[in-house]
Amino acid sequence: MTDLKSAAIAVRENAHAPYSNFQVGAALRTASGAVFAGCNVENVAYPQGTCAEAGAIAAMVAAGEREIAEVYVVAGSPMPVTPCGGCRQKLAEFGGGDVPVTMATVAGVEQRTTLGELLPGAFSQAFLDTDA
Ligand code: THU
Repeated sequence: MTDLKSAAIAVRENAHAPYSNFQVGAALRTASGAVFAGCNVENVAYPQGTCAEAGAIAAMVAAGEREIAEVYVVAGSPMPVTPCGGCRQKLAEFGGGDVPVTMATVAGVEQRTTLGELLPGAFSQAFLDTDA
C-alpha cells in the first residue's frame, strides 16, 4: 500500500486547481500490480474540470489495463477525502464492490472502505438488458 500512497501524494502536487485551491491525488493498483496515478485538472470553464480519479482511470485505460484492485485518494481536507458521486460510478466501471478504497488527508489520517460501500446499487451492465 505504501507505493499507492506515495504515488497519490506525489501526483497531487501536480494538480491544476487554481479555482478551488483543492488539490487531489488518486492512485490505482490494477490486477497486474501496476500503479496509475491522476490529479484533478480544473478549467476556467468550471464544468470542464476533471477529478483525480478520472485522471488515474484514464492513465490505466491508456496503458491497456482495465481491472482495478485497490484505490487510494488523498487531499488536504480536514477529514479523509471521499470520491465524488461521479467518480464512484467511474471506479465501479473497472472494479468490483470488494475493491478496497483508502481515503486520506495530507496530514496522514486514513479511512478504509470499499467500492461497494461507496456506491451501493451501482448502475451496471445488467440494466442494459432491454428484453424485459
Ligand atoms: N475532486 C477530485 O478530484 N476528486 C474527488 O473525489 C472530489 C473532488 C476535485 C474536483 C475539483 O477540482 C476539486 O476537487 C474541488 O471540488
